Amino acid sequence: MKKALIALFAVVAFAGSAFAAAQDNYEYKGGSFGKVAFPHKKHVGLGCTKCHEGGIKKIEMNKAVGHDTLCLKCHKAMAKGPQGCKDCHKK
Ligand code: HEC
Ligand code: HEC
Ligand code: HEC
Repeated sequence: MKKALIALFAVVAFAGSAFAAAQDNYEYKGGSFGKVAFPHKKHVGLGCTKCHEGGIKKIEMNKAVGHDTLCLKCHKAMAKGPQGCKDCHKK
């Protein structure tokens, strides 16, 4: 019985990780300029593929992604969302 329960738990845990849900909010370290908040839930209305090209999976964050390929690039293009350094980076 105990073994069966452990096996069942393992199956449920695996299924959970295979369909990982997004957090409502993420926060990045952001280096010397301070932390950057990313409210994922507020962005989903834009359409998943705007950011998740080639499938829904984790997007590794770094300065180039934050500025040049994703976050700031889109805010500038849409003239919406924070665009000044201190609008994104908070100490
Ligand atoms: C504005 C860009 C953007 C949009 C739009 C967006 N996402 Fe994301 N999503 C991200 C980023 C960036 C991450 C990575 C967060 C992290 O872990 O640092 C992420 C993470 C995720 C994760 C977690 C992946 C993992 O394994 O950690 C899931 C699931 C997800 N998004 C699903 C969706 C779905 C479904 C939609 C559409 C309804 C969507 N996202 C729309 C940017 C976006
Ligand atoms: C595809 C376009 C797009 C991308 C990519 C994108 N954003 Fe945005 N973001 C927006 C838009 C549009 C708004 C304005 C939403 C509104 O005013 O209703 C916004 C608003 C925000 C806000 C303000 C939310 C609030 O409460 O008013 C923050 C913070 C933010 N974005 C951070 C980020 C970060 C960090 C990333 C990268 C991980 C990112 N965004 C990527 C389009 C984008
Ligand atoms: C749209 C939001 C946004 C704006 C506006 C923005 N940044 Fe960033 N910045 C980010 C994100 C996201 C990262 C990646 C954070 C991480 O990987 O921890 C980043 C990374 C950085 C880093 C590197 C941190 C490291 O250690 O790698 C520095 C420095 C930085 N930004 C400075 C600035 C300056 C200066 C400005 C204004 C000219 C600015 N940022 C404007 C979102 C933004």
